[in-house]
Parts: sequence; structure tokens; C-alpha cells
Amino acid sequence: MIAIHWATAVLIVAAWFTAEGGRDVVKNPPMLHFSLGLAVLALMVPRMILRVAGQTPPALDEQRPWLATAAKIGHALLYGFLIGLPLSGWYAASRLGVSASFFGIGLPMIAAPVQGAPGLIAEIHENAGTLILYLAGLHALIAGWHHIVLRDGTLRRMSPL
Ligand code: HEM
Ligand code: HEM
Repeated sequence: MIAIHWATAVLIVAAWFTAEGGRDVVKNPPMLHFSLGLAVLALMVPRMILRVAGQTPPALDEQRPWLATAAKIGHALLYGFLIGLPLSGWYAASRLGVSASFFGIGLPMIAAPVQGAPGLIAEIHENAGTLILYLAGLHALIAGWHHIVLRDGTLRRMSPL
């Protein structure tokens, strides 16, 4: 879970930096953006399996049950973005008539191509792609608050070392 968490964080930032919008996507499709984003989606498969298998430890602070509930809601929101963002991107690419590929493996179209603007879901994708960085920033600030103010081991137990 720890390895998947940090790999996902790196992939999200890398997908953001390789993103393109508008006409450029059709003329010169950002294949690296597609692959990095689809890797986020692929990692959700083992992540969900591990989660269902009970590999996510409970919240450390037993004094504040509201904090555990808030964390569950926040993490569920992030999960929603981690699944919805790549799927909406794949949809947007299909609408633009661009076939997405995952590191060279061609993927099917999941929507009929249209002339002109790719529509609302593509717009949502573009905005959500930046919104997730703000959410992750807030999430990192909360992790810092756990570490510095609450002094529980929440950040330490997510340490990759
Ligand atoms: C999961 C991580 C992802 C993030 C953080 C992300 C982020 C973004 C951002 C910020 C934009 C807007 C770029 C701009 O307007 O300059 C964008 C556009 C786009 N992304 Fe993603 N993306 C992700 C995954 C994907 C995937 C998996 C695909 C396709 C398989 C994809 C396809 C596209 C397409 C086609 C556009 C252009 C949409 C348009 O012009 O209307 N993205 N992405
Ligand atoms: C795009 C970046 C990030 C995403 C999408 C993300 C997402 C998530 C999600 C969904 C969880 C819930 C547990 C799980 O399913 O693995 C989690 C846990 C956690 N994250 Fe992040 N995260 C990101 C970046 C960060 C950063 C930068 C930090 C620290 C500075 C951080 C610190 C933590 C900690 C400490 C936990 C564990 C909470 C616990 O043990 O209860 N994350 N993260």
C-alpha cells in the first residue's frame, strides 16, 4: 500500500506536467500523459484488492472518532479522483478522435469521436486534473499537522523507508 501510495503521487504530478489541452492534443497526442494517467488507474486495481483484504490500518488516534471519519471521507474523495480522472481523460481522448495507448499498448475508444469541442466530461477532466493537486496539497498539509501538532505516527507509518 505504501509503495502504491507514493508511486501514485509521483504519477499524478508527472501526468499533470505532461498534460496538453485543446487542438494540440489532436495534432500531437500527449502519449506520455495518457500512459502516466492510465498507470494511476492500473494501480487502483491492486490498491482496491489490498484495501478489501484489510491492508489499510485503522486511524491511530482513538480519542477523536470524528478525525477517523473525516479521514475516511477525504480518502474516499481522493479514491474517486484516482478512478474518475483517468477514465474521464480516456473518454476525452476518444471524443477528440485520439486513441489512447498504455506505454505502446493500443486501447479501444470508449466514446464516439466528435467534431469540435470534446464536451463537458473533457472539461471536467481538465479542471479535475488540477483540482486533485490542490486536494493532495491539503492532504499533505493534514499529514504535516498529524506529524507536528498531534505528534501521532500517521506520517511515519506512510514512510517508504
Ligand atoms: C490521472 C492522472 C491525470 C491527470 C492529473 C490529468 C490532468 C490533465 C490536465 C490538467 C489537463 C488539462 C491540460 C490543459 O488544458 O493544458 C488534461 C487534459 C487532457 N487529458 Fe489528462 N490527466 C490525467 C489522466 C489522463 C488519461 C489517463 C488520459 C487518457 C487516456 C488523459 C487524456 C487527456 C486529454 C485527451 C486531455 C485534453 C482534453 C481537452 O483538450 O479537452 N488524461 N489532463
Ligand atoms: C497526488 C498525491 C497524493 C494522493 C493522490 C494521495 C492519496 C492518498 C490516499 C487515497 C490515502 C488513503 C490510504 C490509501 O488508500 O493508501 C492516503 C494516505 C496517506 N497519505 Fe497520501 N496522497 C498523496 C500525497 C501525499 C503526500 C505528499 C503526503 C505527505 C506529505 C501524504 C501522506 C499520506 C499519509 C501519511 C497517509 C496515511 C494515512 C493513514 O495512515 O491513515 N500523501 N493518501
